[in-house]
Amino acid sequence: EKGGHEYFMLKEIEEQPEALANTLRGHFESGRIILDEQRISDQDLRDVDKVFVVACGSAYHSGLVAKYAIEHWTRLPVEVELASEFRYRDPVLDRDTLVVAVSQSGETADTLEAVRHAREQKARVLAVCNTNGAQIPRESDAVLYTHAGPEIGVASTKAFLAQIAANYLVGLALAQARGTKYPDEVAREFAELEAMPAAVQKVLSTVDQVRDLGRRIADSKAVLFLGRHVGFPVALEGALKLKELAYMHAEGFAAGELKHGPIALIEEGLPVVVVMPSPKGRAVLHSKLVSNISEIQARGARTIVIAEEGDETVRPFADELIEVPAVPTLLQPLVSTVPLQVLAAEIARTRGYDVDKPRNLAKSVTVE
Ligand code: M6R
Repeated sequence: EKGGHEYFMLKEIEEQPEALANTLRGHFESGRIILDEQRISDQDLRDVDKVFVVACGSAYHSGLVAKYAIEHWTRLPVEVELASEFRYRDPVLDRDTLVVAVSQSGETADTLEAVRHAREQKARVLAVCNTNGAQIPRESDAVLYTHAGPEIGVASTKAFLAQIAANYLVGLALAQARGTKYPDEVAREFAELEAMPAAVQKVLSTVDQVRDLGRRIADSKAVLFLGRHVGFPVALEGALKLKELAYMHAEGFAAGELKHGPIALIEEGLPVVVVMPSPKGRAVLHSKLVSNISEIQARGARTIVIAEEGDETVRPFADELIEVPAVPTLLQPLVSTVPLQVLAAEIARTRGYDVDKPRNLAKSVTVE
């Protein structure tokens, strides 16, 4: 049932194009984005004036990614918060607040409690969930299901990519309701999402290269991950994968923070994974990251660079270069996350750990 793979996680990584395609299917009909269940009126959706995304772990990272798109498309303020923190402070919520609860299992205790708290404060709750009929969607006002299929590996992979796609659909649904995007723009954004399964399929051709790299750096004592803009949550996700699977010290940083502390960690031979933005996107983001890489390389770091194919400027600074296909900036996390998943799994395997069942972790965390 592992489809010829040594572990489920690798199978699930390879199922990501399908998970994305299945998640998008049926959500754009007659020129409109549609949710799976909507128990709030279109008018209430139009009246939303603030969005919170609440989630844990990788689902939280999917929210961090989506913030860039939702704010850009809807011009609504979006806060992304760990469910366990959201619940125990006093967030400002009312009936015009939309709380998006993202949970693969739909049973995560912290996220469920956050949903209950939000509804007590009269906020509207939209669940993004991978499990039909789970508790979180049952208690929500609207639901968008990710169709990643069952995820066996404790480390989230295909559910994470599907969450990003679903969160983006939530952003487009809001933009459509509010009229901040014309119908033809919504259609164009959806078409770009629909092109992503093929792009992710292309990234899968790097699996052997990344596994080989993983074997070569498996005895490192730590790995750092750097990114900017949408690449920042990708860095956090890459570090989380490595912590949970390989039991290695791993940290994700916003590249702009380097000089505010983390650069002190750089030492000879330390692997640093850098998630590059497209050179064809915002040039300033790209050039700032190139200068970050040159700084850490000059201090002895072993730079592992995830960059758009054909990005020649970055080549001289990359000790290892992993190329991903060119896609629109907001969609880059869907391609750049994939090599980081493979890297973590292979490092864990090389160190002799159970990739599908890391120590101390459960697939679904049903206690707070
Ligand atoms: O089922 P959920 O999406 O609510 O789970 C949230 C986290 O527990 C989950 O993403 C966890 O961080 C994964 N092990 C990460 O790979």
